[in-house]
Amino acid sequence: MAAANLDGVPVPESPAPFGVYVHVPFCASRCGYCDFNTYTADELSGSGSGTSPDGWLDAVRRELAGAAEVVGERAVDTVFVGGGTPSLIGAQRLGAVLDAIRAEFGLAPGAEVTTESNPESTSPEFFAGLVEAGFTRVSLGMQSAAPHVLQILDRRHTPGRAVAAAQEARAAGIGHVNLDLIYSTPGETDDDLRASLDAVLSAGVDHVSAYSLIVEDGTALARRVRRGELAAPDDDVAAARYEIIDDTLSAAGLRWYEVSNWAADDAAACRHNLGYWLDGDWWGAGPGAHSHLGGRRWWNVKHPARYAAMLAVGEAPEAGHEILGPQEQATERVMLRLRLATGLDLDLLDAPGREAARRAAAEGLLDQTALAAGRAILTRRGRLLADRVVTDLLTAVPA
Ligand SMILES: C[S@@+](CC[C@H](N)C(=O)[O-])C[C@H]1O[C@@H](n2cnc3c(N)ncnc32)[C@H](O)[C@@H]1O
Ligand code: SF4
Repeated sequence: MAAANLDGVPVPESPAPFGVYVHVPFCASRCGYCDFNTYTADELSGSGSGTSPDGWLDAVRRELAGAAEVVGERAVDTVFVGGGTPSLIGAQRLGAVLDAIRAEFGLAPGAEVTTESNPESTSPEFFAGLVEAGFTRVSLGMQSAAPHVLQILDRRHTPGRAVAAAQEARAAGIGHVNLDLIYSTPGETDDDLRASLDAVLSAGVDHVSAYSLIVEDGTALARRVRRGELAAPDDDVAAARYEIIDDTLSAAGLRWYEVSNWAADDAAACRHNLGYWLDGDWWGAGPGAHSHLGGRRWWNVKHPARYAAMLAVGEAPEAGHEILGPQEQATERVMLRLRLATGLDLDLLDAPGREAARRAAAEGLLDQTALAAGRAILTRRGRLLADRVVTDLLTAVPA
């Protein structure tokens, strides 16, 4: 395969962790809120053998072989298979993806290997297959335990299935298990959310991600909101729900380490996502996947048929790229690091930015003690207004 054109940007011999993301673009049905690059069997029918799970696997193997030529010898610290619905293609194909990564790059000792899974397409046998293949972490899309909320979100699983799946994963020997929640869905009450959190805690997981429902343009949810069938999620309600989530999870020993992520301890934090947030390098394989190596970013063609067709004739499936200049890299660093519990070194801000940080601390949005020690760390109120704090630090004009 032709190597991706790196435009003269050297692949650094950096000690930064190296991740591989693999995108599985298949779902059994489309959830009304989701705008991810994923397709149902109906949407793909007639578009050729490259769009079957085996055609996709063949194309991903080709891309990984080309990736190894570009990257050179570099063991993989973290793997994340996401989607779409990776569990839909079965543990055997997921194991084949991991085998290809092992063969092309090698896995670093103690590598974190995650796959996303939808509760309804998992079973004890599926998890046993994942363990045998070498997966160490599973992330399950639970979203809610309230039947009427799951219905509005178009989720296919029953309220209890996500908890059962998490327990099956742990029983099978998966070391780290995450449950994803979506909150402030129209029709969700505080009590619905509390019941969802109780269910999450009963599952005994060591990681929780919780996202406020985003109404993405072009989705069925956006059309329903526009027609007035559903109310748009309310910012004040979302903030109050975030506080319920943070209070409940903290009381149960799960600490926030990123605005939307809580973990039982450092070992339970998702190292792959930390790589994204801390300037790591990663190769994203699969339709529409994004990659980042040494300040160069690129993204693949989105449609699985085009993706497979390009790889079949030896072409890199790249759709576009950008080189991040020093200013853009600095901006990204502030945006991403400020969302982490470890915060941001004040040296990464210019003088007006540091002044804005002092004003944010006076308003209770940044931690005063951390600021005195040279770091910008969000308080809980700051976490609720994280986007505003980032904007203030980046666009501050001297007071
Ligand atoms: C793209 S999904 C992939 C995993 C899997 N297919 C699933 O749905 O569980 C990853 C997570 O993103 C979150 N998500 C996707 N779209 C969202 C939206 N519009 N608003 C909030 N969260 C969203 C959900 O919590 C979901 O579990
Ligand atoms: S199952 Fe996951 S990826 Fe598929 S449509 Fe639903 S939210 Fe999106």
